[in-house]
Amino acid sequence: MIFKKKQPQTVPKLDPNNIPAHIAFIMDGNGRWAKKRNMPRTYGHHEGTKTIRTLALEANRLGVKAMTVYAFSTENFARPQQEVEYIFKLPKEFFNLYLQELMDNNVQIRFIGDVARAPQWTQDVIFSAVERTSHNTGLILCFAFIYGSRQEIVEACKQIAMDYKQGDLTLDEIDEDLFESYMMSADLPPVDLLVRTSGECRLSNFMLWQLSYAELYFSPVLWPDFNEACLHEAIIAYQHRDRRFGGLKS
Ligand code: IPE
Ligand code: IPE
Ligand code: MG
Repeated sequence: MIFKKKQPQTVPKLDPNNIPAHIAFIMDGNGRWAKKRNMPRTYGHHEGTKTIRTLALEANRLGVKAMTVYAFSTENFARPQQEVEYIFKLPKEFFNLYLQELMDNNVQIRFIGDVARAPQWTQDVIFSAVERTSHNTGLILCFAFIYGSRQEIVEACKQIAMDYKQGDLTLDEIDEDLFESYMMSADLPPVDLLVRTSGECRLSNFMLWQLSYAELYFSPVLWPDFNEACLHEAIIAYQHRDRRFGGLKS
């Protein structure tokens, strides 16, 4: 019998003591993934929802506190109506398939964005998932759905202006912490790591305020192919970054 010489172990390891508290994902590349298979773009969106489930379970297992996924942008209304309608059906499909499993894993569902622009039945499904999981204490899985960061910032400004006008706020009280408390992501931890798939290197109007000091990670992998191993690679890359927050090297 011939024994192969053992290869040296070079795979870097995750440090369980330095897991990002909040990972935000720009889930990109569904359309290209489907096109490569001569399938309609909607098939890519369908397959992409499986990645959300996989990553949520793994992030939860790793002790990530929150994971935000960019599911539909305010700009995505510019897509063909048939594609938009298909995406608005996905919450129902996703929760039908996976809500029980997410419940069993103590995952809490949240939504940020202008959900009221979705059809009523989509909103009902969303509110029911949020409600059902509201007491869960594991990973917060937050969907940015009909979300636009500029819109979120403008809405926060309007709300602050109204509260100021009504005398509930003084000018001196308006600072970064107060502004943060008016954002839709107010009670989520700061985003430590942003992952965008499919090789695009832009933010596309996603969490501009929240990403101020996030580490950015761009992966060439198309979203439906992004798996646990890819998540580990992203976290390992994050763990090798030197986060200085404007100070000096630690
Ligand atoms: C991301 O995939 C999903 C949404 C934006 C809803 P895309 O649909 O943008 O896929 P590509 O970029 O066209 O491949
Ligand atoms: C960003 O992806 C929006 C979501 C992932 C929901 P897009 O594919 O819409 O962004 P652009 O058009 O490449 O900027
Ligand atoms: Mg895209």
